Amino acid sequence: MGSPRKIIIDTDPGQDDAAAIMLALGSPEEIEVLGITTVAGNVPLARTSTNARIICEFAGRPDVKVYAGAERPLKRKPISAEHVHGATGLDGPPLFEPTMPLQDQNGVDFIIETLRREPKGTVTLCTLGPLTNVALALTRAPDIAASIREIVLMGGAYFEVGNITPTAEFNIYVDPEAAEIVFKSGVPLVMLTLDVTHKVLTLKARIESIRSLGTRAAVALAQMLDFFERFDIEKYGSDGGPLHDPTVIAYLLKPELFAGRDCNVEIEVNSELTLGMTVIDWWRVTDRPKNAKVLKDVDAQGFFDLLTERVGRL
Ligand code: RIB
Ligand code: CA
Repeated sequence: MGSPRKIIIDTDPGQDDAAAIMLALGSPEEIEVLGITTVAGNVPLARTSTNARIICEFAGRPDVKVYAGAERPLKRKPISAEHVHGATGLDGPPLFEPTMPLQDQNGVDFIIETLRREPKGTVTLCTLGPLTNVALALTRAPDIAASIREIVLMGGAYFEVGNITPTAEFNIYVDPEAAEIVFKSGVPLVMLTLDVTHKVLTLKARIESIRSLGTRAAVALAQMLDFFERFDIEKYGSDGGPLHDPTVIAYLLKPELFAGRDCNVEIEVNSELTLGMTVIDWWRVTDRPKNAKVLKDVDAQGFFDLLTERVGRL
């Protein structure tokens, strides 16, 4: 066993973000969370910053450092998703005001400072929301691009197409200019797209496996998933909802659960009709450079077994 992989989680909690954070905190032998940075996305920044701390306290980790980042996209007006996540963004379990503090340092400055301090190529950015914070860090401190081991991001889609518009996935759509900066940065990218996440559905038996762990974290997460899945069941008529964000952490822990290919990916930032679309050259019909590993397939039960086992450790 090597030393734990150092990560920064950038997030807009979000019930599925909560599952990702718990999966990471439940895997201390493999993952060292250097800090959590929050961004406006599912709900406004003040709320995502509160939610990230609530999640850490549910997980019994009030020591984790949480830093608030950008409160709006680079140039567009904020778009949120209370219709999916509820007014608090973390509807489901009884919520509370967290007692752990929010760090004074801005999340973007924390990302820059951490990447300049840690040895080059040792820090992975795990992004679970819009890419505003990462884009701001790359713009303010271009030198950090060479220091990032890789960015593993939940975002985009190809075969599944869009979930917030007919062609765009939410995290990219909220801040397409930020996504463009990240996808043109040259930093190694791994994309967990909707093509993957729509294959990991919160089936009733899967939620019950989590609930039956009986711990504070597991019961709270099961209550979050009870609430979270209702939107996608209604929309897609599916059995359960897609559990997007924890696929990012699962990829770090067990990459063999996933399959995909290196592709060129470009972001639509001009057309109003297809704004935020991730134009993925999956069939290699162009000679554009392959700038991302695009994941498409996943062992869904293996993923849920991992998630359940690790949440059970909290
Ligand atoms: O499109 C799904 C993504 O948007 C997930 O990260 C979810 O939490 C929302 O941020
Ligand atoms: Ca998210």
